[in-house]
Amino acid sequence: MDRNAPIGVFDSGIGGLTVAREIIRQIPHEPMVYFGDTARLPYGSKSRDTVIRYALQIVRFLKTQNVKAIVIACNTASAYALEAVEKEADVPVIGVVRSGAHMAAQVTRSGRVGVIGTAGTIKSGIYRDTIQKFRPETEVFGKACPLFVPLVEEGLWHDSVTEEIASRYVSELKGKFIDTLVMGCTHYPLIRSTLRKVMGENVTLVNPAYETAIELKHMLEEKGLTCEKTPKEKYQFFVSDQAEEFTSFAKSILPEEVKETKKIDIEEF
Ligand code: DGL
Repeated sequence: MDRNAPIGVFDSGIGGLTVAREIIRQIPHEPMVYFGDTARLPYGSKSRDTVIRYALQIVRFLKTQNVKAIVIACNTASAYALEAVEKEADVPVIGVVRSGAHMAAQVTRSGRVGVIGTAGTIKSGIYRDTIQKFRPETEVFGKACPLFVPLVEEGLWHDSVTEEIASRYVSELKGKFIDTLVMGCTHYPLIRSTLRKVMGENVTLVNPAYETAIELKHMLEEKGLTCEKTPKEKYQFFVSDQAEEFTSFAKSILPEEVKETKKIDIEEF
C-alpha cells in the first residue's frame, strides 16, 4: 500500500465536506479525493439496497484513484452500507456513526441523548444500537429531519425558514429532556448555529465529523499509512452532477483553496 496515496471520502453531496473540513484541520498534510453524489442525492429517503448499490459504485470509482483508506462521510451510507463497503474495498474503511455514537455516550451526563438524521439513518436504529453498546443504560431518542438536507443544499443556513422548521423538529426531543444531541447527518453541522439557538445552551451538540477525523488520524498512524510526501495536487473533487455549484459550496466550507470539480458518470462503475 502506498502511504502517500490519497484518502477517499464520499457523501451524497456537499454534506461530507464537513467531514473533509475536519480531516484537513486534523491531518493537513494528507491528500484526499472527495466524491459527492450530487446527481442522486438525497440518500436519506432511499432504500437500503439502493444506498448500498450507490456506495459500491463509489468505492469502485475511488479504487481507480488508488486511495489508501475510505471515509464514508455520510451517516445514511454508514448506517446501511458500512459492511458492504468493507467487503468491496481492499483498504481500511471508516464510517461516521461509530465515532459520533462514542462521543455521545461519553459526553451525556443524564444518559438521555437525541439523534437527528435522515429518515434512513433514524429508521435503521444504528445510533441507538451503537450508543447503547458503549453505554447500555442510555436512552436514545431519534428524530428524522428530511427537510434539513434540501435547506442546506439551498444555502439557507442562517434563514428564518430553517429556524422555524428546526424548532418544529426538535420540540419533540426537547420534551424528552435530552442533554446531548447528535447531528447525525453530515449536512447538519452547516446549520449548527440554528440548532444551537433552538436547542438552547444546555444541550451538547455532537458533530461526528470531528471524532471521525481523529479516528482516521489514529488509524493511519497505527497502520503505518501516514503520508510522508504530500503530492502537489493535494485535494481532488469529483461529483456526479453540478460541478460548478459544488465548487462554490466547497470554497465556502473548506479552509483550503478549491480550484475545480470534475464531473464523472458514476453509473459506469
Ligand atoms: N449527508 C448525508 C448523511 O449524512 C445524507 C444526505 C442525503 O439524504 O443524501 O446522512
